[in-house]
Formats: sequence, structure tokens, C-alpha cells
Amino acid sequence: MHKLLLIPIIILVTVSFSCNKNAQIERGVMADHVMVVSAHPEASEIGKRILLKGGNAVDAAVSVQFVLAVSYPAAGNIGGGGFMVVRFANGTSVSIDFREKAPLTGHHDMYLDEKGDVVPGLSTYSHLASGVPGTVDGMIKMHDKYGVLSFKEVIQPAINLATKGFPITANQAKSFNGLKKQFLEFNNHQPAFVKNKPWQEGDTLVQPELARTLELIRDNGRKGFYGGETANRIVEEMKRGGGLITHNDLEMYNSIWRKPVISDFMNFNIISMGPPSSGGIALIQLLGSVENYPLSECGWGSSEYIHLLTEAERWVYADRAKFLGDADFYNVPLSGLIDKTYIKKQMSLVLPGKARISSEVNHGIPAGYESEETTHFSVVDEMGNAVAATTTLNRGYGSKIVVKGAGFLLNNEMDDFSSKPGVPNSYGLIGGEANSIQPGKRMLSSMTPSIIEKEGELFMVVGSPGGSTIITSVFQTILNITIFNMGMQEAVCAKRFHHQWFPDQIYYEKEALDSLVADKLKNIGHNLKLRGPIGRVDAILVLSDGTLEGGADPRGDDTAVGY
Ligand code: DON
Repeated sequence: MHKLLLIPIIILVTVSFSCNKNAQIERGVMADHVMVVSAHPEASEIGKRILLKGGNAVDAAVSVQFVLAVSYPAAGNIGGGGFMVVRFANGTSVSIDFREKAPLTGHHDMYLDEKGDVVPGLSTYSHLASGVPGTVDGMIKMHDKYGVLSFKEVIQPAINLATKGFPITANQAKSFNGLKKQFLEFNNHQPAFVKNKPWQEGDTLVQPELARTLELIRDNGRKGFYGGETANRIVEEMKRGGGLITHNDLEMYNSIWRKPVISDFMNFNIISMGPPSSGGIALIQLLGSVENYPLSECGWGSSEYIHLLTEAERWVYADRAKFLGDADFYNVPLSGLIDKTYIKKQMSLVLPGKARISSEVNHGIPAGYESEETTHFSVVDEMGNAVAATTTLNRGYGSKIVVKGAGFLLNNEMDDFSSKPGVPNSYGLIGGEANSIQPGKRMLSSMTPSIIEKEGELFMVVGSPGGSTIITSVFQTILNITIFNMGMQEAVCAKRFHHQWFPDQIYYEKEALDSLVADKLKNIGHNLKLRGPIGRVDAILVLSDGTLEGGADPRGDDTAVGY
């Protein structure tokens, strides 16, 4: 009934559009038993081998995480953090938050000068940019509780890869060469990613220091990272560059089991990550926003479709800036934010056929409010257990600072805090008190590792990197599958667009909008801006006969491997 009531909103923007999607796109990798999709071929292959060996999806995911720390240093990490959502074959789900934390001597105004202005670069490329890393604690906790292979078996492939080396991809060669100057500038030693002659595709990257750190973790568990030699090296590195992380910060770090945020969307059930990620809440708000609109009648890629999604994104990101932060420190009105009546009310303010202006759009008032280079991988095992994990150093190669002697990169996740209300971070996101810096607090994330059920069964595992665009990339991929009946690979390949309230712009990938659609959007008041790739979605779809389809994003070196 609602659908009919809402149709006029859509058709006021008139004219039907043919769908922009490319009908020729092939299906992704198909497999009957298991599937691993990650940002690097070595990691996907090793994940599959762990599953072949009898490991479950958690073993494979933990192994993939450590392998990515070796084979994909731009974002795979042990010096960063992230989130993992797991749905077990029996239908229960858990999530773990291994997000970095502000050092205990971190404080509200630590990136401001005496005039109160943000000092450029301090929260991104300095020793002050790093939060206390969470990955090692998170992986060990997850594996201890749910893994079936020994920890040695899951971490050893990463050690072997770091010791023996692996052939780098063309993209990696380009990236190492492009960043050589910065790696040398930010370090007083030569990291493994720097060599005298330019890197070529297929050159071997060997990382003996990282191998040694991983061995310490293999042999001593969390103490191999948060104590002993590795902790000494991290603290030494901090002293060298005026950073804040101390032995006490490292010892005190703890990853946390969190209840996933769960909500229905049509006849699907969305299981995603709650605070300190904004991803799950924002994704549920976005899906709820469009649920009652006849999207398939609008047509994928039509101006009506893009207008509607943009207007939903505009208010959802305004809510994000106001209400979302680490719920251990700030009272996040979670249930109010994902309440369908609230979402409907916010959508009732959307104008048919006219863009709203971001400066005139404020956050809502949900119930409970009193007075805001990453990598994703997806795994499904033979039993039907599923893992969605998104993890990061924040920007590509994080702070670009490699802990001397320990061979791993430190994150620059502190930039995800709001350094000053209203001042955008490196993703252009603004925030306020909810996401201000406090000692031991976790910075707000957009990471959205998600698992979707259909009629109570596993249906899809999905997530993406991309900073602020993670949420909208996951959102559009889900709509491509659930509304537009695309296959997994096709849904991942489909071009994307993004709006985040401020700046008041629709960012779009090349070929995401045809010129007619672009003109219509401009005519109703939208600002358009072409940009490079948006997101890198790695996802798995369970087809109706139980076959798994891996969708690996061609925007990177992402690879699906199954059997
Ligand atoms: O947690 C966040 O939202 C960001 N630190 C994620 C960074 C990211 O996705 C970079 N990748 N392209």
C-alpha cells in the first residue's frame, strides 16, 4: 500500500530510463562448497587452503587477515584495526570490535594549535596519528573462541609469505614507486617497500622483520605484540617521533564482543556492525529509507533512483555526524536511529524532483536522544558459517610509518575522530562531541561488514573499503542484488555514486551517470562531481541452488577463490 502512496514522489521527476547496467557482465567465480573473496590473490588462495585443511570460516578469516598484513600492506595490517561479523550455520551471529583506541594521554584538542585551529597533517601523517592497534588482539580472541585449527596453523602461512616473499602485482609496483619519497621521509630506516631501482610487476617482496614479529605473535599470543620485543619497538618508535602510545596503552588494549545491529529490509534480514562503526546503523537507515519506494520501476541508474538515494544519504550522514561515536563514551540512540517510523519521518522531508540543500538539512530527533585504505574480505565455509571482515590502517599504508625493526605499518586512525566540530577529516566527514577525542575512546568508523539472510538462510556476505563511501557502496550493492536481481559479480562491477551530506555533492564514477541523467539531476538542483573508484566490494552470494558466487571488485586486485 505504501508503495502506491509513494509512487507520485518518484514519477514527478518523469521519464523512464533504461538501466545503465551492462547486461554482458559475466558471473563471478562459482563454487559448490566454500568461497573466499579478498583484496589480494595470495590471501584468497591461502584462505581456501585453510578451509580445505578442515578449518572453518573463522580460521580462514583469521588466516586471511594475517596474510593481508603481508601481501597487501596498503590496508591489510597488524598495526591497525577493524570489525568482523560472523553468522554461524545455526543462525546465530556475533561481531567483534578490534578498532584502535585513542592513547590514554590523547585528548580533545590534541590536533589544535594555540589559536584553536587544526594543525594540518598531525592526525594523518605523524606519530600522533596512530591509535592503539587492535587487530592482533581481535584475531586471537576470535580464533580462541571459534577457530578449530591451531593458531599456529592459521598464522604460519603469513609467516611463510613474509619470509619467502611473493610476487607483487602491477598496482602494488606502481603504488610502492609512487610512495617511495614519503616512505623515506616518514621513516629513519628503509622499509621493505622501498628499493633503489623501481619496482616492477612480479618482483618479490620479502619482509623478514615482519616475519619475525608474526613469529613472536605465533609463539607468545597477544603478548608477542602487546608486550616484549614488539611492544618495546612500538614504544621506541613513538619516542622517536613524539607519539603517545605507551607500554600501558598496549597492555590495556582489548577488543570487544559487540551485539551486531540487526534489522529487516523487505524479506531480508541485515546483520551488520554497530558502534563504534557507523556502518551498520547507516546502512539500515539507508535501506529503510528506500524500502517503500518502487525502485525497480524507477530503473537502475535513472535520475529518480539517484535522486532518491542521494536524499536518503544526505540525512543519514547528517545523523551520523551528530549521533554516532563510541557508544562506550557517548550515548548513541541506537534503537531510535533505526526505528522505521523515525526513518519514514526523515524521508517524508525529501522533496520530489528537487534536491535539498545540505546546509538546510539537519540531523533528526530519534527516540532516546536528549538535548555523530581499508580492506574487506568475505568467507563462507562448507558448513555455511560466514564471516564478513573489514579492517584498516585508515589511509593507504596508514601513517606510512613502519615500526623500526618490527616491519609493520602504523595506522593513522586518529584522523577518524572529529579533531574540531565542523572541520572535515580526510574523507570530508564532519562530526561533533559524539566523536570527539577522549583517552581510550574508539574513533567512529564507516566500516560496514555485513551478512544478509533471506527467509532465515544465509544469502549474502558483503563489505567494502572506501572511507565515507563504504556505507553507500555496500548499500548500492545490496540494492543491485535485492531489487535489480543482478548476479554477485555484476552487482560488484556496477558503477557507484555517493553523497555524504557535506560536501553537498553527488560524487560519481565514470559511466555511473549518462549525460541525460546528469542533466536531469543538475536541473533539480544537485551538484555533481566525477571522481575515481568508489569502494572495492568483495562479496559472496548464495544462489537458490546453494551455489556460491564470489564477486571480487575489479577496481583492485581483488580475487575470488572457491571450490
Ligand atoms: O574506519 C573508517 O571508516 C576509515 N578509517 C576507513 C578507511 C578506508 O576505508 C580507506 N580505504 N579506502
